[in-house]
Amino acid sequence: MSEIKFDGRVAIVTGAGAGLGKTYALALAARGAKVVVNDLGGSTDGSGAGTKAADLVVDEIKQAGGEAVANYDSVATIEGGENIVKTAMDNFGKVDIIINNAGILRDKSFVKMTEEEWDIVNAVHLKGAYCVTQPAFKFMKASGYGRIINTTSGAGLYGNFGQNNYCAAKMGVVGLMNNIAIEGAKYNVKINTIAPIAASRLTQDVMPPDLFAKLKPEFVTPLVLYLSSEENQDTKMIFNCAAGWFSRTEVMCAEGMIIGDGKREITTEEIRDNWGKISSLDNAKPLNSVVDSFAYLGPVIS
Ligand code: NAI
Repeated sequence: MSEIKFDGRVAIVTGAGAGLGKTYALALAARGAKVVVNDLGGSTDGSGAGTKAADLVVDEIKQAGGEAVANYDSVATIEGGENIVKTAMDNFGKVDIIINNAGILRDKSFVKMTEEEWDIVNAVHLKGAYCVTQPAFKFMKASGYGRIINTTSGAGLYGNFGQNNYCAAKMGVVGLMNNIAIEGAKYNVKINTIAPIAASRLTQDVMPPDLFAKLKPEFVTPLVLYLSSEENQDTKMIFNCAAGWFSRTEVMCAEGMIIGDGKREITTEEIRDNWGKISSLDNAKPLNSVVDSFAYLGPVIS
């Protein structure tokens, strides 16, 4: 079996000073990638900053014989994103891989959530993915190669009590992926999204200790590396991953039904009376773009 290598590739891993991001940075470097280890070095709620988190990971990579450079910018501003990409360009001359992983939490039930809590979580997760990816995407387009991984969450995909800001931001990165996948297609830029579950400082207070011990972040790492590799030809996909479970999950469109003939009025009662078919997921499938959804209207718009 051939080994997946990253020789000659340059990767940016955001939030790589701890948890999942640290495992990605170490694993990519161990397989030959030059890595920008970005981390703001703050606490789990996004307050504070420091250089130690990123520096320690860079030291570990170098001690193992790999190549890495630290960056301490926040992903949450375009200035920060540009500087993270500049760090890759200045030190390694290009950028092939972006792993948008940096994250924080400010959990609150919906009525109690403040504007500040909403803004900071969206700024790190959603705006952060834009701020880092946009400057890198320009280089990827020019070089005709790119692999991007966004990080969503089961909370965003399926819901979780008390994580309104986080759920909204985490679905946002799926929307961003959908668009970048379409715009990147002809430049060999592939983007996918993972929904991990892993033991980290973000989850240590919300998981029972026995479960926490089993959810090693290293079980998520191989999927991220595969999606980051040249061998991966898939794009615009979402994957759950935890403790050795890997599963594709998607936003899909069901076949549904057509009411009327495109000319006559449709009544509210017809919606009620056909609710079983309208709400059914029968023959659901992912669409390549919104344009594909027009095919379902066929008979009434032709
Ligand atoms: P973690 O707290 O161990 O790591 C996140 C890292 O991001 C930290 O080192 C932190 O300093 C850094 N960071 C935070 N704000 C930053 C900013 N503005 N700029 C640069 N770096 C920043 O957390 P973990 O669990 O490793 O999370 C990684 C990603 O995975 C996050 O996006 C998280 O939302 C996501 N995730 C994690 C799950 C889990 O079970 N651990 C579940 C679902 C999603």
